[in-house]
Amino acid sequence: MTKPPLAGRPAGALLRRFERTWDELAAIGGGGAGGYRRFAWTPVDLDLRGWFADEAARRGMTCELDRNGNQWAWWGRPGPGAVVTGSHLDSVPGGGAFDGPLGVVSAFLAVDELRERGVEPARPIAVVNFADEEGARFGVACVGSRLLTGVLAPGDARALRDGDGVTLAEAMSAAGADPAAIGRDDEVLSRIGAFVELHIEQGRGLADLGAPVGVASAIWPHGRWRCTFHGEANHAGTTRLTDRRDPMLPFASTVLAARSAAERLGALATFGKVRVDPNGTNAIPSRVDAWLDGRAPDAATVEAMVDEIAGAARAAAAGHGVRVEVVAESVTPVVEFGDELRDRIAAVLGGAPALPTGAGHDAGILSARVPTAMLFVRNPTGVSHSPAEHADTADCLAGVSALAAVLSDLACR
Ligand code: GLV
Ligand code: MN
Ligand code: MN
Repeated sequence: MTKPPLAGRPAGALLRRFERTWDELAAIGGGGAGGYRRFAWTPVDLDLRGWFADEAARRGMTCELDRNGNQWAWWGRPGPGAVVTGSHLDSVPGGGAFDGPLGVVSAFLAVDELRERGVEPARPIAVVNFADEEGARFGVACVGSRLLTGVLAPGDARALRDGDGVTLAEAMSAAGADPAAIGRDDEVLSRIGAFVELHIEQGRGLADLGAPVGVASAIWPHGRWRCTFHGEANHAGTTRLTDRRDPMLPFASTVLAARSAAERLGALATFGKVRVDPNGTNAIPSRVDAWLDGRAPDAATVEAMVDEIAGAARAAAAGHGVRVEVVAESVTPVVEFGDELRDRIAAVLGGAPALPTGAGHDAGILSARVPTAMLFVRNPTGVSHSPAEHADTADCLAGVSALAAVLSDLACR
């Protein structure tokens, strides 16, 4: 397979460790021109979890699986006040190498850096791999952290289905996990003194600022809405246009309405996933399911945009004899990362710039319950959720050094 390009390689032990760790992980779950396909609770996910357990074992860290499928590697005895870092290993379909894995690899390497420098933390340090961050298989993002914090009800989670009709509960069982055990876990949460997630930036903010590393200030509110258009299947060659109830037509209007609403409101709207039944070239579809991803700097704008798009969908559907339903599948409020931790981190990093993001993260979910911050590593093109996603190795190493400095500051005081 093609390895993700690593440009501008500086020399040294950290570089060698980074390359070794990165290359072993890069071999799992795809890569190359088609990108990664690392979906939750699949055999690939089990391989990723095996990689995580091996990295923990290599460092003599205790590896634990919590009730919600999140993996934890501990330096020191698991307990309250821990400084936790890490991210996720799953991907979107056709995903890049960095979204998630960079945070987990950097976390292990930051532990190595601290140990090499002889740092003796006063608190435990843990590296975490959150389960199913992207929601690529079951539709809801950040399932591991939502369950842990109680934002997602266990029964709702168990009933989520993938495109083949397999429930999350069935997928967990098939992977050897216990779906009956999932749910809010205050004991695990009570161990977290602070959570710092390092992540590749998914825009060009740091590139424009000329900075290799930054600190997150906020995450835009965002959500996913399923729009289902019910029409009538019929023959493509014999059904007069006037006799059709074609759900593809109001769907197409809705896509255009979403774009114009987003432009007008200063928001973002995307239809990136569509399911057409029966999906035959010579059949008018009976049904189109399409998922709207909506984001904006504030919740009122997201709401106004989604209302407008739903209204446009209803109007277009009525004009074609089609019935439409718009259902919210997940809605995530705005996250403003706390000033105290953010300012402390920015000071440790010598005034790294702070910037908001439109991308969702487990850190955003955790921030409602524990002191949380994020570090971003420069992405020269800003491209993400694509095989072209990239960060220069020199910037990745700067990220590891920054994370090590932050962990040392938080864990040694
Ligand atoms: C996660 O990457 C998201 O924002 O969708
Ligand atoms: Mn992502
Ligand atoms: Mn991510």
